[in-house]
Amino acid sequence: MKRETCCVLRGVIWWWEDGVRTVLLGNTGVEVSAFCLGAMYFGTSTDEETSFRLLDQYVEAGGSFLDTANIYSHWVPGFVGGESETLLGAWMRERKNRARMFIATKVGFAYPGVERGLRARQIETECEKSLKRLGIDTVDLYYAHVDDRPPPPPPIGGGVGGVEAFDRLVRAGKVRFIGASNFLAWRLEMARWVSQTHGWAGYCCIQQRYSYIRPKPGASFAPQIAADDDLLDYCRARGITMLAYSPLLTGAYTRADRAFSEQYLGPDTDARLATLKAVAGEVGATANQVVLAWMVQSDPCVIPLVAASTVEQMRENLGALEITLSADQMARLNGASA
Ligand SMILES: NC(=O)c1ccc[n+]([C@@H]2O[C@H](COP(=O)([O-])OP(=O)(O)OC[C@H]3O[C@@H](n4cnc5c(N)ncnc54)[C@H](OP(=O)(O)O)[C@@H]3O)[C@@H](O)[C@H]2O)c1
Repeated sequence: MKRETCCVLRGVIWWWEDGVRTVLLGNTGVEVSAFCLGAMYFGTSTDEETSFRLLDQYVEAGGSFLDTANIYSHWVPGFVGGESETLLGAWMRERKNRARMFIATKVGFAYPGVERGLRARQIETECEKSLKRLGIDTVDLYYAHVDDRPPPPPPIGGGVGGVEAFDRLVRAGKVRFIGASNFLAWRLEMARWVSQTHGWAGYCCIQQRYSYIRPKPGASFAPQIAADDDLLDYCRARGITMLAYSPLLTGAYTRADRAFSEQYLGPDTDARLATLKAVAGEVGATANQVVLAWMVQSDPCVIPLVAASTVEQMRENLGALEITLSADQMARLNGASA
C-alpha cells in the first residue's frame, strides 16, 4: 500500500494511506482503520444483500477493520448467534479480500449452547468455531468480550481474563493480537501484570461503551461497562487503544424516533448537547459526525465502532473522517459540563 503523508495530531500518529486514515493499534506496531465497522446485525436484522452493500461501501472508503463476535446476534428472533461471522466469511470469500481485512471477533458472553465465561477450554473451542464461520486461519484481534471475575479471594497468578489461553492461541498462530471488552481499568492492569510476569501476550486494546454524552454518576449498563476518565487515563499511560461501542446511541443524537436512555440523562447532558449542536453548525456537519470526529481526534485517540443499516447512514458516518475540529472546538466539546 502506498504511504502518502504522516502527521502528529494531538499526540497521535495519523497516516493517510492512499487517502485513508489509519491509527496504530496499541503497542502492536500495526495500523488499523481509524473507524472500525461494527457488523453486529449483519446476517440477522440486516439482510445479506444490504450487509454486503454496506461492507463494500466501507471498503471503498478505505476501511478494513471489521468487528464481530461469536454471539452476534442470537437475540434477534429466529437466530442463534454466529450469523454475523458467517456473513463476513461469505463476503470475504466472494470479494477475495481476506488478506486486506483486519478481523476482530470475541468470546465470553453466553449464547445458545454456550455459557458465559472465559474458561480456557471455552476460549479454545469458541475460537475454532469462529475461525470456521469466518472461513479464515487466523483472527487478527480476539477479544475477551466481558470480564470473568472469580469469586473472592482472587487467585494469585494466572487466569485473569483468560490471558493464558489467549496466549496459547497466539503461539499457535490462530490469533494475532488480543483485546479486552467490558473490563474495569484495574482488572485490565491486573491482566497486564499477569501477562507480563509470565511472558504471555497482553491485551492491546479495550472496547467499551462510549459516546459524547456521559452516563450520569452511578449509572449501570451491566453487564456492559462504560468508559470513564480513569480508563482513558490508563489507556494513555499504557499505550492501550480504546475502541468505542454504541458511539451514536442508536441514532438518538439526530433522530426523533430514538431517545437517550435514562442512564444518560445526567447533570451535564444538556450542556454537552448544546455544545455539540453549536460545533456541528460551525463545521457544517451533523451531530453524529461531530461525535465520531471528536473521538478520533481526542487524546488518546478513540476508534469508534461505526454501525449503520442503510447506505445513507453509512455515508453520513464515514463523512466524519473528513472533518477536522479546531483545538478550540475540541476544548469546548471536552469542557462542556453542568
Ligand atoms: N463489546 C461489546 O459489548 C459491544 C456491545 C455493543 C456493540 N458492540 C459493537 O459496536 C458496534 C456498534 O454498536 P451499536 O450498534 O450499539 O452502535 P450505535 O452507534 O449505538 O448504533 C448504531 C445504530 O444507530 C443508527 N444509526 C447509525 N448511523 C446513523 C445515522 N447516521 N443516522 C441515524 N441513525 C444512525 C442505526 O440504527 P437502525 O439500524 O435502527 O436504523 C444503527 O444500526 C456493533 O456493531 C458491535 O460491533 C460491542
